[in-house]
Amino acid sequence: MAHTTSFFPTLIHHAPLMREGVNALNRELLEEIEQLRALDRAGQAWSKTGYVGGYTSYGSMDRLHQFSSTFMALEKKIDAHVRRYAKALHWDLRGGRLVMTDCWANVMPKGCAHSFHLHPQSVISGTYYVKTPKGCSGLKFEDPRLSSLMAAPMRGPTAPREMQPFITVPAEAGKVILFESWLRHEVPASTIAQERVSISFNYHLL
Ligand code: NI
Repeated sequence: MAHTTSFFPTLIHHAPLMREGVNALNRELLEEIEQLRALDRAGQAWSKTGYVGGYTSYGSMDRLHQFSSTFMALEKKIDAHVRRYAKALHWDLRGGRLVMTDCWANVMPKGCAHSFHLHPQSVISGTYYVKTPKGCSGLKFEDPRLSSLMAAPMRGPTAPREMQPFITVPAEAGKVILFESWLRHEVPASTIAQERVSISFNYHLL
């Protein structure tokens, strides 16, 4: 038996949203997001300082799953992933339910970035990708223990992926990423001309 064992894992769920029909769903989502972006004056204003260069409905329309049947269909699919993820985390929900509370859209053009943050008040957060042109930014996670490392040496470049201090999960249309809401993450600045379109969400335990 090995003398050194790994404990306290951080789980990230990354999977295709559904088996078939994802292209049709993404077309509908994209169309609705484009309409929203054109009409949402409050969101455009909020994005000027909150999402510089891009558009997000985070500050204006953050419950899209309650207003659109297309987003409702997406919510149902994500719910199934959240249930699987909660199982993998071995959570005891004590009769409670994991419920999508917030759901908003993001359009990221060249130069737009979303610096390191976490999602307070929620238990599970994530992103679903609608449009991911080649070369678009992924989702970068930070080892949650970094803030506790007082004097530990840096991990070498040959350390395995799960030992690296940062991990970037690629953004791929049709795929969903879930993580625990306390895990810090960022979207590095986009370096490509085409826009990347995503939908982010939070789950609460109710
Ligand atoms: Ni986030």
